[in-house]
Amino acid sequence: MAGTSPQTRDSFGSKFGVIAAAAGSAVGLGNIWKFPYEAGKNGGGAFLMIYLVFVLLVGVSVMIAELTIGRSGQRNAIGSFKAIAPGKPWFLVGVMGIGAAFMIFAFYGAVAGWTLEYVFQSLKNGFAGKTPHELEDMYHTFISGSFRPIIWQTVFLILTAGVVIAGVKNGIEKYSKILMPLLIVIIVVLIIRSVTLDGAGEGLRFLFHPDFSKITGKTVLSALGQAFFSLSLGMGTMITYGSYINKRNNLLTSAVQVSLTDTLIAVLAGMAIFPAVFAFGINPSEGEGLVFITLPSIFQQMAGGYFFAILFFVLLAIAALTSTISLLEVIVAYFSEELKMTRKRATVIAVVVIWFLGMICSLSQGPLARFTLFGLNFWDILDFTSTRILLPLGGLFIVLFVGYAMGTKRVRAELSNEGALKARIFPLVIFLIRFVAPIAIAMVFLNAIGILKIG
Ligand code: PHE
Repeated sequence: MAGTSPQTRDSFGSKFGVIAAAAGSAVGLGNIWKFPYEAGKNGGGAFLMIYLVFVLLVGVSVMIAELTIGRSGQRNAIGSFKAIAPGKPWFLVGVMGIGAAFMIFAFYGAVAGWTLEYVFQSLKNGFAGKTPHELEDMYHTFISGSFRPIIWQTVFLILTAGVVIAGVKNGIEKYSKILMPLLIVIIVVLIIRSVTLDGAGEGLRFLFHPDFSKITGKTVLSALGQAFFSLSLGMGTMITYGSYINKRNNLLTSAVQVSLTDTLIAVLAGMAIFPAVFAFGINPSEGEGLVFITLPSIFQQMAGGYFFAILFFVLLAIAALTSTISLLEVIVAYFSEELKMTRKRATVIAVVVIWFLGMICSLSQGPLARFTLFGLNFWDILDFTSTRILLPLGGLFIVLFVGYAMGTKRVRAELSNEGALKARIFPLVIFLIRFVAPIAIAMVFLNAIGILKIG
């Protein structure tokens, strides 16, 4: 059983374990499912450019800030704030984060369930002989059903709960270490097939040639939200994982390595998808179905496509699992440490609530699609509130906390491992955390709500 009190806290065993677990959290459906469809909806190249700028200037800073809070506070997303700034309202940032974790897990679990259906379909050769148009129908029929998507979602939640109950070392670390490199290899194979299709060039142009006339405040907010979502930032995941990181680990290098790996995988996924999207005449702004329609179409055109499809969807499901584990861990660490529940009980309660919310998300793709608020269904509301609002806002408060409230001495001590590391880039890091990241986030918000009109 993993530790539940600060004295007996579990921690990641090896240096590679830390990176693997944090990268396992970051790399998931956000890279392979969400990034391509957000890029597709928001004009391609321009979105990618803005996204990359946000990862470098804001994402890395927030990641460093979160790891610092967690390792210094030695507790969960809420408890760490309380430990560092007792009696102050900063812990509310953690409360927001726990809320975001529930919301994200609800719709993320639904998509994770779809990946299991696609594993099943690839096993029974269900894509064989289908045109891109037929694959589109197949996808829409499946997700709008009331029964099947919910069954798979339930299976996925049970899998996640199983790993989280097993505890940090035996669970998360063990599962995170494996198979990530294999996923990269498969994506590279997919890229090779995708870019050699007739008419693929247009897809590469779409992804890499920025058309800045397409940029609006909404595009910029989407790119910022996507950077947070993909890097698992703004809601305490990295605070929680940071609290499991050994005091000898170099937080700066870990943050940079995880951010770069995550971004590389998103770009590779885009390179696998867009050439095929254009070659097959699929609409790039198709939305949530984009990868589920495009990838099976590519597998149809490949030697060994049957096996690649199985392998790909299995790996995608595992990548999703290492992310849902981290979402659940944020909640469970809080329930068990602050509310003094056992890990098992905390997990069961969290998963039942998520299951219920997730079921409504799933049904909002079909039977409940008519129920909307401001034109958004339940799923879109959770996605919008968490990704576009709570994560960037959480990130803003996190950098402000580390930049101004935590005290430079404590931050420096944490980042230099009490002086053991040289941390020569410390002034640059603190500059990013204090000025660049908060100003950038605040500007995007103000621009999106129309107070400040840039461009
Ligand atoms: N970063 C994960 C992904 O890209 C999703 C996630 C978001 C996980 C927020 C934890 C917290 O799939």
